[in-house]
Amino acid sequence: MLRPLIAGNWKMNTTISQGVELVMRLRELTRGAEDIDIVIAPPYTSIYHLRFLLAGSPIKLAAQNLYIEKNGAYTGEVSAEMLRDVGCEYAIIGHSERRRYFNETDETVNKKIFASLRANLKPVVCVGETLDERKDNKTLGVVKRQIKGALKGLGPGMVKDLVLAYEPVWAIGTGINATPEQAEEVHNRLRDLLCEEYGMVANDLRIIYGGSVKPENIDELMAQPNIDGALVGGASLNADDFARIARFKKSPKGRS
Ligand code: PGA
Repeated sequence: MLRPLIAGNWKMNTTISQGVELVMRLRELTRGAEDIDIVIAPPYTSIYHLRFLLAGSPIKLAAQNLYIEKNGAYTGEVSAEMLRDVGCEYAIIGHSERRRYFNETDETVNKKIFASLRANLKPVVCVGETLDERKDNKTLGVVKRQIKGALKGLGPGMVKDLVLAYEPVWAIGTGINATPEQAEEVHNRLRDLLCEEYGMVANDLRIIYGGSVKPENIDELMAQPNIDGALVGGASLNADDFARIARFKKSPKGRS
């Protein structure tokens, strides 16, 4: 079994003091959770402050986005190098909200992955279909296209540092999660696709699920052979819920 990764995406939520409160409680509740990677992605404005509160805890920091250039005249943007400097170890890339509201494409996602690896940030690359695409039976075609576009030009040595997040758009923030079987089907196919393209390293790459993950469904999701963790939105803003998700019930699993 791969080392599980549970990541909380706070999105555009929390002031600094709300973030401090959340982190203090999370630290308490995740003490001793050493067999898992726990990651939070607060808004940029809180990262610097929170990094000091997280020292000595198993919780790591992620950025919610980044810009592809190192520095320069790009008003309003933040580079991967700056995010590494402020204490991030991971960067979420290509979240469906970025694709939808900020016109990110597979091509920009690809550039952001390169930028992230250049700065030694581990990219958490998001893919997933809309409800219409699922209804039209296009799920696998869509995620395949997104993966191919996102990973264009990356060799196996680079791919091994990625985390892939399967996040069906219809499940994000809706309270309707994909069933464990629906998620496993896509994860399994993604793993096969990565194996075809990159060989054995694909077996060591974590594929996490996102979309209405809650304390009530995490155990079942994590029992699936190809679900290696979760990307959590709404429930990551509640310390008790997020800690319970991070302390999911472990069950033995074997991949076919
Ligand atoms: P949700 O969001 O858990 O609120 O559905 C998931 C995400 O956007 O990553």
